[in-house]
Amino acid sequence: MAPEAEPGPAQIVADGITRSYRMEGVSVDALRGVSLTIEEGDYAAIIGPSGSGKSTLMHLLGCLDRPTSGKLLIRGRDVSSLNDSELAELRNQTIGFVFQAFQLLPRTTAIENVALPLVYRGVRRAERRKRAAEALEAVNLGHRLTHKPTQMSGGEQQRVAIARALVGEPAVLLADEPTGNLDSVNGDEVMAILERLNKDRGVAVVLVTHEAEIAARARRIIRVRDGLIEEAV
Ligand SMILES: Nc1ncnc2c1ncn2[C@@H]1O[C@H](COP(=O)(O)OP(=O)(O)O)[C@@H](O)[C@H]1O
Ligand SMILES: [Mg+2]
Repeated sequence: MAPEAEPGPAQIVADGITRSYRMEGVSVDALRGVSLTIEEGDYAAIIGPSGSGKSTLMHLLGCLDRPTSGKLLIRGRDVSSLNDSELAELRNQTIGFVFQAFQLLPRTTAIENVALPLVYRGVRRAERRKRAAEALEAVNLGHRLTHKPTQMSGGEQQRVAIARALVGEPAVLLADEPTGNLDSVNGDEVMAILERLNKDRGVAVVLVTHEAEIAARARRIIRVRDGLIEEAV
C-alpha cells in the first residue's frame, strides 16, 4: 500500500459508544461507553472475560452493527449520518472481518469464497478470480484454490477467511478470536500471517484473544470488563 502524502483521519474512532440489547423486555448493556482509536497500521489486542463485550465491540468497530449511543467515525465519517447501503460501502472499502468460526460457504471453492465480496463491488469475474487467487497466495494457499472448506483443515479454512477479508484491500482487519478454534500450530500460522500483513502491507490489525501469549505480541492491549475499557496499554 502506498504511503499517503499526509496522514489521513484515523481509520476508526469510537467516542463513548454503547450497545444495549433488548430481549423479552429486558435490556442488557453489553457496552457502556467505550472510546478508542484505531490508527493506520495499528496492531491491538482486545482481551477480557467471556461476556465482557469484546464481540459486541468488534461488531461495532466493524460496522456489522450500530451503536445504541455515542459516536463512531470510520475514516472521519460519522456512521450515524449514513444509511445502511452507504455504511456497507464504507465498511467494504475500509474493513475486513475474520470470525472465530470462519463462516465460509462450505460447498463453495476457496477461490469463490474469497471472490464473493468483490461481486458486491461490481468487479468483473476475471478480475475477481485474479484478485482472489492473489489473496489466497498471500495466506500461503495458492495451491488450494479449488478446494472446498469441507476438504480443508481448520487452519486452512481460517486462512481462506483471512484471504476473503483481505481481497478488498481493507485498511483494517478485525479478527474476533481468530485462533480460538485452532490448535497451536495452526494458530501460530494464522498469527504469522496477520503479523506479516500488518508489517509488510501496513494493514491495521485488531484481534480479540483470551490467550495471554497472543495478546503480548500486539503493540497495545485493550482490556475490556463489564462493557467498559478497564485498561489500555
Ligand atoms: N445479540 C444479543 N442479544 C442479547 N444479548 C447479547 C447479544 N450479543 C451479546 N449479548 C450479551 O452482551 C454481553 C456481551 O457479549 P459479547 O460481546 O458476546 O461478549 P464477549 O465477546 O466478551 O464474550 C453478554 O452479556 C451477552 O450475553
Ligand atoms: Mg466474543
